[in-house]
Amino acid sequence: MSESATRERYIAAASAPEAALCCPVNYDPQFLKAIPTEVIEKDYGCGDPSKYLFPGETVLDLGSGTGKICFIASQVVGPEGKVIGVDMLDDMLEVARRNAPVVADNIGHANVEFRKGRIQDLGLDLELLNDELKRNPISDAASYLAADDLANELRVKQPLVSTDSIDAVVSNCVLNLVESRMKRQLFEEIFRVLKKGGRAVISDIVSDEDIPQHLQDDPSLWSGCISGAYTEEGFLKAFADAGFYGIEILKRDSAHWQTVEGIEFRSVTIQAWKGKQGPCFERNQAVVYNGPFLKVLDDDGHAMERGKRYVVCDKTYNLYKKAPYAEFFSFIDPLTDIPLSEAKPFDCSRTDIRHPKETKGQDYNATTAASNCRDGGDCC
Ligand SMILES: C[S@@+](CC[C@H](N)C(=O)[O-])C[C@H]1O[C@@H](n2cnc3c(N)ncnc32)[C@H](O)[C@@H]1O
Repeated sequence: MSESATRERYIAAASAPEAALCCPVNYDPQFLKAIPTEVIEKDYGCGDPSKYLFPGETVLDLGSGTGKICFIASQVVGPEGKVIGVDMLDDMLEVARRNAPVVADNIGHANVEFRKGRIQDLGLDLELLNDELKRNPISDAASYLAADDLANELRVKQPLVSTDSIDAVVSNCVLNLVESRMKRQLFEEIFRVLKKGGRAVISDIVSDEDIPQHLQDDPSLWSGCISGAYTEEGFLKAFADAGFYGIEILKRDSAHWQTVEGIEFRSVTIQAWKGKQGPCFERNQAVVYNGPFLKVLDDDGHAMERGKRYVVCDKTYNLYKKAPYAEFFSFIDPLTDIPLSEAKPFDCSRTDIRHPKETKGQDYNATTAASNCRDGGDCC
C-alpha cells in the first residue's frame, strides 16, 4: 500500500476530528489540563507510551500528529528533559507548532519541538530538502539524481535526528501506517537514533492472525490503522530482528478494538532496549536466575535454569543488572576483581555453569566465624 491514502486521510483529520481513527485511551487527566481542546479532539492514538517515561529524558515521538503525546511527555520529562515530535504532514505540524507555546505557557517550560520527516527515514529533514529544491527544482532525470545526492548529503551533514541521541523513542498508533517494504528500515532507524541503553516504547494496533492481501490492498483499512498492522508475534520479532533486547509487552488490551473478517485488532504497548551489541570479556562474574520459571532464554541465546550459577561475560552481567532484567537475577562478583583492561575475550555463544571456585579463586580455603545477617537480625 502506498503512502498516498495515509496522507489524504490525515490531512483531513488535521482539520476536522475523525472519530473512526480514535481508539479510546485513558490519558492521565492531570497532564491533559495544560493541552488545548483542539489538540485533544484530534487524538488518533491507541495507547499511552508517555506513562513509561522519566524526568530528564530526551524523547522522540514518531508520527506526533497534533502533538498530544509530546505535550504529555513534556510534562513528564520536565524542564531538564526534551521532546521532539516528527510527522510527515504540514497540516499536523501546523496544529502542533501553533499549540506548543500555549502548552509551554501553561506548564511553565518550553521543551518541545516538531520536525518534518518520515519516520522510516529519520535522517532526512524534509523542510531542509524542500528549501534546497526551491533553489534547484527537479525538472529532468539529471536534476532528480542530483536531488537524491543532495538528500544523502543532508542525512549525513544535517540529520533530522542524530544517531545515538535519544533516551526513549515513543509512538502512538503510527508504525502500522508505514508501507510494508519500508517497515524493516523503520525499525533500523528507531535503533539508530537511540542511545546505547535507550529504549523504544511503542503503542500500536496488532492483529491476532495474518492479514490477507485483499485487506492489505484496501486503502481505507490501511489508513485506518488496521490492515498495515503486524501480527502480535510479528511485532515483537521486528524489534528482535533490528537488534533490540529485553522486549516486553507492557500492556495488551484484552478487548479487541475492531474485528475484520474474523481477525481481531487490539492495542498493545511494547518496550524494547538498545545496547546488547559489543565485545564480550571474562571477569569471572556469575549470575543466578531467581525464578519463578524453571528456565529462561535471553535475546543472545543464553538459556538459564532457576537457581544455578552461570558464567556470563562482563557485558551480559551489566545488562542483567539493569531494567528489565535486574529483579530476576542474583549477582556474584569474583573475590578478586579482574580490571576490564586486563580481561580476556569471552565466547558469548556458550552458557556454562560457573563453579564457585572460579569466583572465589582456586586456592580459597578460608574458615570464618558466623557473621550477622545483612538484614540486621541474627542468622540463627
Ligand atoms: C494515527 S495518527 C497518530 C497521531 C498521534 N500519534 C496521536 O496519538 O494522536 C498517525 C500520524 O502519523 C503520521 N504519519 C503516518 N505515517 C507517517 C510516516 N511514514 N512518517 C511520519 N509521519 C507519519 C500522520 O501524519 C499522523 O499525524
